[in-house]
Amino acid sequence: MKIVKKILLALLVILVVLQFIRPDKNLSDQDVTDVFETETQPNKEVVAILENKCYDCHSNNTEYPWYAEVAPISYWLDGHIEEGKEHFNVSEWATYDLEKKEHKMEELVEEVEEDKMPESSYTWIHGNLTPDEKEKLMEWGKQVRMAYKDKMGG
Ligand code: HEC
Repeated sequence: MKIVKKILLALLVILVVLQFIRPDKNLSDQDVTDVFETETQPNKEVVAILENKCYDCHSNNTEYPWYAEVAPISYWLDGHIEEGKEHFNVSEWATYDLEKKEHKMEELVEEVEEDKMPESSYTWIHGNLTPDEKEKLMEWGKQVRMAYKDKMGG
């Protein structure tokens, strides 16, 4: 019993200390989606879907929930954001070449079609895409991809 108490106390101390070490927040003061949206022309509905379900992990600006302040959740969220941005970051769209843009849009349609995005770690709190939203997102994604493909010369 004594040992259990000691372990619990140690864990509590660690948890408290952890609260003081916070990962840097993913918060840019720039208009992070400007270039991407100008180029890919999502309509209002698609913009809303992207804002509500994708940009938190795929742009340089995350809308943090209150529990993001709590370690170890803060670290866990940070990991997802960093990994998501590494694969696909709309805030760095200007730095992607044509081929990369075309490929990312292809991936986008695939991931959404196969219900892989948004991640399940996200949808259990934020809700998933409705079938209608899924369709609109894919339709836009396909069009944008075709446009990039045309630019590449087929
Ligand atoms: C909770 C964070 C999170 C959210 C929200 C999220 N993603 Fe992701 N996304 C990731 C992570 C992490 C990866 C990389 C690992 C993987 O492919 O599963 C990824 C990968 C991707 C890729 C693949 C890029 C590549 O080159 O393979 C695309 C495209 C993508 N996401 C699009 C979306 C779209 C569209 C939405 C919204 C409908 C979305 N994501 C929502 C975290 C997220």
